[in-house]
Amino acid sequence: MDSGAMIEVFDRTIDNPGFITPVLSPQAWQQHFAQPAMSLGILASGSGSNFEAIAQRIAEGRLNASIRLMIYNNPDAKAAERADRWQIPKRLLNHREFESREALDQAIVSAFQEQNIEWVVMAGWMRIVTNGLIDAFPGRVLNIHPSLLPSFKGAHAIEQAIAAQVRVTGCTVHRVSLEVDSGPILLQAAVPLLPDDTPDTLHRRIQTQEHQIYPQAIALASLLPIPTE
Ligand code: GRF
Repeated sequence: MDSGAMIEVFDRTIDNPGFITPVLSPQAWQQHFAQPAMSLGILASGSGSNFEAIAQRIAEGRLNASIRLMIYNNPDAKAAERADRWQIPKRLLNHREFESREALDQAIVSAFQEQNIEWVVMAGWMRIVTNGLIDAFPGRVLNIHPSLLPSFKGAHAIEQAIAAQVRVTGCTVHRVSLEVDSGPILLQAAVPLLPDDTPDTLHRRIQTQEHQIYPQAIALASLLPIPTE
């Protein structure tokens, strides 16, 4: 066979080539909706598409929660515009104006506690968190990461997956612990890495799955016992 000939080795004609997206059962949803609504505080640094996906699910009545406050740390984060569009209260806590990570986290904790927030949802929050935040919401700080953890931790997960030439990568929602991108996993979705992927095309494919699993992982978290260390 002529190894130089480019043939399409993956079937792209089907809707969801090779994806594995977990879906909660009807019974799980029923139980989730039988409980009091979850009060969420969101932390976002950038685009905020996950934040918006969660807001949308709530608005559609498909997640029993309310977003009481969205905190962002970059003045030009697009997440702020999304908050305005969804009429969700927002607050800028610019990390450059705090003398330490601890001081920033203390301000976050105070702002969330003032709103009686129970769950902290990190949606593209690009700051390393401290014990001050984790201890204030034990087992209730969630994060989404663009890889199948424990593979490819850190800020360049997508580039790492491409460099490693894996066939499958994905995204993970997990409870936050002090060690970055660790902590008990709640939900994962698998996403194929295609031969001509760039970081951008792969990230877009992963984000489609992130928007599916993050609301579901939040619902799942409401059903599971809080792990004790
Ligand atoms: C997501 O891809 C997430 O996995 C990572 O940061 C990105 C945030 O995207 N932690 P967005 O701001 O929600 O659009």
